[in-house]
Amino acid sequence: MNTSTTASAPTTPFDVERIREDFPILKRQIDAQPLVYLDNGATTQKPQSVLDAIEHYYQHYNSNVHRGAHCLSDEATHAFEQAREKVRAFLNARHAHEIIWTKGTTESINLVAASFGKAEVQAGDNVVISAMEHHSNIVPWQMLCEQAGAELRIAPVNAKGELVFDGYSALLDSRTRLVAMAHVSNALGTINPVKKIVEAAQAVGAKVLLDGAQAVSHWPTDVQALDCDFYVFSSHKLFGPTGVGILYGKEALLNTMPPYQFGGEMIEHVSFKRTLFNQLPYKFEAGTPNIAGAIGLGAAIDYLSTLESTAVMAHEAELIKYAHERAIAFDGLTIVGEAEQKTSVLSFLIDGTHPHDVGTLLDQMGVAVRTGHHCAMPIMEQFGIPGTVRASFSFYNTLDEVDALFTGLEKVRSMLL
Ligand code: ALA
Repeated sequence: MNTSTTASAPTTPFDVERIREDFPILKRQIDAQPLVYLDNGATTQKPQSVLDAIEHYYQHYNSNVHRGAHCLSDEATHAFEQAREKVRAFLNARHAHEIIWTKGTTESINLVAASFGKAEVQAGDNVVISAMEHHSNIVPWQMLCEQAGAELRIAPVNAKGELVFDGYSALLDSRTRLVAMAHVSNALGTINPVKKIVEAAQAVGAKVLLDGAQAVSHWPTDVQALDCDFYVFSSHKLFGPTGVGILYGKEALLNTMPPYQFGGEMIEHVSFKRTLFNQLPYKFEAGTPNIAGAIGLGAAIDYLSTLESTAVMAHEAELIKYAHERAIAFDGLTIVGEAEQKTSVLSFLIDGTHPHDVGTLLDQMGVAVRTGHHCAMPIMEQFGIPGTVRASFSFYNTLDEVDALFTGLEKVRSMLL
């Protein structure tokens, strides 16, 4: 594994123990043992500042946004729109109105499928995804293609868990309307060559959606540099609250797309004869949004801005490199997903054991991992396995926690084999 893209010399020392102090849950004990939280791919933990921002909103200015003629509503609207601006800056989008609030990555993808997809994908067209996608980046396209009479094309993935780039580009043609790909695979940790993916798609006139759910917490993302048409992610995988997510879309494209849901907020004028829709971003934000969630995500982005990103990346690279070294040295362990470009995921199997049994026993030792197919059944099927044990790391994890995982696995092995 080459972690050179994610590792570079920190400009300031990375004090992981100090950083851990910011995350109250990391002090928890599980059955009188310290929690070793290695399920960051499923959700990340929240710093105190995020919890405080949410509580502060409910205690001091809980109110609906864009509606009331009163102080609380003004304050809530200001904080909500300020959070949108923080997301814009975080993604380096050109305009704040290119940032649409959703419930999460899944809703963001469904929005694009229901709006862009229904308008643009016709019989005989095709949509290209990869074999390593999460179900949320498979099923919406499968349904769309079925309804439209379009073809869903699957870009191949090799035995190491890497996109076969030539296989991908061979699928593209003048009828490709959209390419939808994970920036990082949740099941394998593979980092996809997204810039090249976008360029190849653009060469045939296709639009590109990148699923950034597993990428945004690991390094800065620049949607203008990537030049993707859509970028989606969930707040809860970026140290923010659950129930809120982001759809970034290029302004010109969002302007051509029909609304996704109908109701309050997304309208400019309603009469029984006809309804005029609101402008961006409100056109896509029917109903009262998750105000506290948006403010919480803004606080998470503020928190991340206090960290030195090169130091964070170097620390995470060290964690995954060390985890791989320990995994390679562990008898009977098979790593699933050995891409050259890989981030903080170690998916594996232990000979003669079932992933669920391994996960249950690790849990009894305070080590939290995810087991199963990770909502990526097709890639598991390609590898001929029902699932894996997945340890997924974040910057607040330590090398000692990697050791705790392997001490746990040694015990599991002696119990099960
Ligand atoms: N998609 C999340 C994961 O990979 C839930 O665990």
